[in-house]
Amino acid sequence: MSKILVTGGAGFIGSHTVVELQNSGFEVVIADNLSNSNEQVISQIAEITSKKPLFELVDLANESACKNLFEKHSDIVAVIHFAASKAVGESVEKPLFYYQNNLCSLLNVLENMVIHAIKPIVFSSSCTVYGQPKILPVDEQSPLQPAESPYGNTKQICEEILSDCTKATSIHVIALRYFNPIGAHETALIGELPLGVPNNLMPFITQTAAGIREKLSVFGNDYNTPDGTCIRDYIHVVDLAKAHVVALNRMLNHQQKQSIEYFNVGTGNGFSVLDVIKSFEKTSGQTLNYQIVGRRAGDIEQIWANPKFANEELGWKAEKSLDDMTLSAWNWQKKLIQ
Ligand code: UD1
Repeated sequence: MSKILVTGGAGFIGSHTVVELQNSGFEVVIADNLSNSNEQVISQIAEITSKKPLFELVDLANESACKNLFEKHSDIVAVIHFAASKAVGESVEKPLFYYQNNLCSLLNVLENMVIHAIKPIVFSSSCTVYGQPKILPVDEQSPLQPAESPYGNTKQICEEILSDCTKATSIHVIALRYFNPIGAHETALIGELPLGVPNNLMPFITQTAAGIREKLSVFGNDYNTPDGTCIRDYIHVVDLAKAHVVALNRMLNHQQKQSIEYFNVGTGNGFSVLDVIKSFEKTSGQTLNYQIVGRRAGDIEQIWANPKFANEELGWKAEKSLDDMTLSAWNWQKKLIQ
């Protein structure tokens, strides 16, 4: 069994990916500092897959801790790197922390991959690198725009670091540019666990319906879109998790055509904020208390993916609908408040 290091594997996307990896026969070691997750996730993964992943409580931005991790698990054959801070607003307030945390953890991981001759790495990138694209849907050839936040900038810089590494070392990269991951595992045993007041739409909707928040604010209905609210490409987290397994296999089976490849991981469908609310109300049977307020600073108007390259070249396609996403997110929320 090939052993895969999943950094940030206790987090939202990481935990779903660990499930898919174990279901595909990989052995997983999770390295996570639990800064935005909970160790209970490890036993929930074990309940879903009947196998407990190895778990190391490690801060990868700490050079010696990262070195020790790679020495202890010298049989790792590939890395999937999720570990990073991801709150856009927080990154504006704490830029140094974001650069330190997101860049140093990647640098330490890469340094140790070189030492141990580990070549493949799948990197968590984001559609945020495209800013507001001029042409929609956005494909991988679209020009990157200057980042709107330190968080977005760390994603761009990390892509550059990885690209430079592929020129100078034997490291191979697949950077997956995620659109908006929402939803939860069908068992409702794992899902998104936002700390404090959620910033993102889906957890805010489910917490409002659960009575934890009074009402959802819809940020702007005066955008140049059919219903005036912003449009995003929401993708089910399980579909996204599966993309990582496909990307990993592509690298392990030496099918990469370039030493660094970028793929958009989205559905190709753009939905507005009101579409998501409507879907949620339909699948959950709840009436959502919401009101339209002013625009949120830094929001782009609309973006959705052209997933053709991922569909054809990677051989991966999103399968789940918006209703699957909102229903699974609600089932997870209900489990949390039980
Ligand atoms: C942002 C980041 C993205 C990051 C993601 C997860 C940018 C441009 N995008 O995505 O890179 O991966 O967060 O952290 O930096 N909305 C409301 N009310 C709310 C919350 C959201 O109306 O209470 C609206 C927003 O205005 C937006 C949509 O819902 O139109 C989605 O927002 P959100 O879930 O926060 O994700 P993004 O901002 O698209």
